[in-house]
Amino acid sequence: MVSKKVKSILARDKKVFLTTTRVPYPFIVDKGDGDFAYDVDGKKYIDFTAFVSIYNLGVNANAEIRNAMKRQMDKIMHVAFTDNYALLPVEFAEELLKFMPKGFGKMFLSNSGTEANEAAIKFSKLFTKRQYLLGYYNAFHGRTAGSLSLTSSKLVQRRQFGPFFNAFHVPFPYCYRCPFNQKPGECGFACLDFMKNYTLGKEVPGEEVSAMLIEPIQGEGGYIVPPNDYFKELRKIADDYGFLLIDDEIQAGYMRTGKFLALDNFGVQADIYTMAKAIGAGLPLGVTITKSSLGDIPAGSHATTFGGNLVSVAGALEALKFIERNKEKLHDEIMKKGAFIKKRLNEIAKDNALIGDIRGIGMMIGVELVKDQKSKEPAIKEREKVLNYAFEKGLLLLPAGTSTIRIIPPFTISMESLEKGLDILDDAIKVASKG
Ligand SMILES: Cc1ncc(COP(=O)(O)O)c(C=O)c1O
Repeated sequence: MVSKKVKSILARDKKVFLTTTRVPYPFIVDKGDGDFAYDVDGKKYIDFTAFVSIYNLGVNANAEIRNAMKRQMDKIMHVAFTDNYALLPVEFAEELLKFMPKGFGKMFLSNSGTEANEAAIKFSKLFTKRQYLLGYYNAFHGRTAGSLSLTSSKLVQRRQFGPFFNAFHVPFPYCYRCPFNQKPGECGFACLDFMKNYTLGKEVPGEEVSAMLIEPIQGEGGYIVPPNDYFKELRKIADDYGFLLIDDEIQAGYMRTGKFLALDNFGVQADIYTMAKAIGAGLPLGVTITKSSLGDIPAGSHATTFGGNLVSVAGALEALKFIERNKEKLHDEIMKKGAFIKKRLNEIAKDNALIGDIRGIGMMIGVELVKDQKSKEPAIKEREKVLNYAFEKGLLLLPAGTSTIRIIPPFTISMESLEKGLDILDDAIKVASKG
């Protein structure tokens, strides 16, 4: 039942805002804390979304982080950090570098994921003096012109927005739906052969490519995890042609997979990393971190008014300190909870043919729904039913890709809330599979 209050806010919202993506259920948030979010009618929901992978340390962050933000707010909020100097962003950068691989020394601060990627794209051009870009089909890197050129997860995100940058897309190793109809583990990476023989063999000379933008696990595109050795092979191709790898850690990073950088699960290093979402602990912050050996960029070539906003950075620094103090414990919790979620999903899948695939690392888990296990026809309406049923029963879930559900609770979620949420999801899948 949608309350009068909710109906009225939805109607007012529709009048004043242009349409955006929005969840398929009428959730109007009032407040949040720990495992839960509450709507304007005071109803409590278990959060399996971290509000799109932001609240990794609990809904609305934690008191220490909020207090750091409040203290900074009373001192000074904004200094236009790309024009003026301040100590706090320096402390934040020094702290962040402790989590990065050796040899990463410089960064640029902005306000969002797309901006972090825009900066990475521009820097790669400055560093290599080359102009072309490579990316993946099904990727999501943001919606401003440069990032959008490499985003290709849904047509609606690109329709009428061209012409795009000089970006070329190659197939991602989406083994559940292999674009080359190969069996996982038996193909010798047909997708990389395609890239070498066709994209780089006939379309764009590899020595004119400045960078390739990758997501270590495709997020918006459907929570797609590549095979273990895939990125090692990609790294070799990048090195052969001398182009840079830009690793977009915006959704998968910041401990979500148990490691600070999701790419570390694949034993490979990038040349530039981008982070946003969770790194701001609830406030807008984007970060582009470059390998020291790439050098610097010319003064005046890139900047942004709000980058390094002091309130954002105060929260981000406190959150990083929290992670540093609790790194081992957090890692173990994430792996334990992730395994618990997967075990339960596998049990649900035993009696329910709606679940086609369960995949993910740590607490970044996707459940792909299909109408039929053999044809793998995406169960789009059924997914909508699952999301809506779960919402009615007090569980927040998000979609990804065509028919996948993402499960990305805050790491700090209690086992009790996790179990309750999975019970609701179990019921929701049962109800949706009955049509
Ligand atoms: C992997 C990835 N990159 C980039 C972005 C864009 O981030 P923002 O919405 O902050 O611009 C997103 C957002 O969902 C993302 O998941």
